Amino acid sequence: MNAGIIGIGKYVPEKIMTNVDMEKILDTNDEWIRTRTGIEERRIAEKTEETSDMAYNAAMEAIKSAGIEAEQIGLILVATVTPDRAFPSVACQIQERMGAKNAAAMDISAACAGFIYGLVTAKQFVESNSYEYILVVGVEKLSKVVDWNDRNTAVLFGDGASAAIVSKVSEGRGILSFELGADGTGGKHLLLNDEKTISMNGREVFKFAVRQMGESAMNVVEKAGYSKEDVDYLIPHQANIRIMEAARERLELPEEKMSKTIHKYGNTSAASIGISLVDDLQEGKIKDDDILVLVGFGGGLTWGAVAIRWGK
Ligand code: UT7
Repeated sequence: MNAGIIGIGKYVPEKIMTNVDMEKILDTNDEWIRTRTGIEERRIAEKTEETSDMAYNAAMEAIKSAGIEAEQIGLILVATVTPDRAFPSVACQIQERMGAKNAAAMDISAACAGFIYGLVTAKQFVESNSYEYILVVGVEKLSKVVDWNDRNTAVLFGDGASAAIVSKVSEGRGILSFELGADGTGGKHLLLNDEKTISMNGREVFKFAVRQMGESAMNVVEKAGYSKEDVDYLIPHQANIRIMEAARERLELPEEKMSKTIHKYGNTSAASIGISLVDDLQEGKIKDDDILVLVGFGGGLTWGAVAIRWGK
């Protein structure tokens, strides 16, 4: 029996900040941002719009799409590094707001790999028959931890949320294999500093990401008993188009077989893979029984990947 995704949802704030808007506050330009990162615009939450608000909106859409009620959820996992506060967790906040009164709830801190960490954790609880329905949310309000004077990082990030309901799916479908990893020795390259803003050694993170994304993607394909020719669609963490392209080339996939939403949303960390999944499904890019690879990396350093045969 396999666990898989039976419902999904996303939420992005209304306010759009374009590269041209960035030019007004930083010594940067649209051309540099576009060619070096693939980003054209990003969504920025209002001051009053908290991480938990975005998580709630995505979660409600996911339970609707799964056709379940909030009371049926047994566990809520929220992947985020930008919670409203250290505690109560965002998971507990949305548990109350959704009326998911039968759910245990906790946050997961694995930065941009958080959504994959959440999916893999959910898979264990479903396949051990511990919980029938698990809500996994990836959500970030990175705008509140960005150093708006640092052009090296400020142009990269955006706010948003995505959510998935993980439950039993039919034979042969669902999460077929996974890989999770961490390398704390690289933690210094991407962190929240004492000023509570993001510090990043972009080049080091870039090198790590290019290597790890390709490797992890290949590993989960092989663990699932497939070869790269069998992969129908790749959803990489949307951090930088050049990093994403490296993973795509490793799997030797044509351009149209890789998800690309970075131009619209920037890097939304734990939310990015789920947001892409929602948009791709809406645009008809994913069909039942397609073999998908979801792969991410992030601060920690962390990484994770899953191979999924899509469908309930
Ligand atoms: O979710 C994980 C989060 N992190 C990442 O994914 C980051 C991974 N790293 C990257 O994506 C890339 O390293 C960056 C996009 C951050 C930077 O791209 P790069 O090609 O590695 O550029 P660079 O850091 O080597 O900088 C090249 C030049 C520098 O100028 P000099 O020293 O050559 O004169 C930078 O100062 O580009 C300059 N630069 C900018 N120029 C205009 C850096 N940021 C900007 C900017 N606008 N926003």
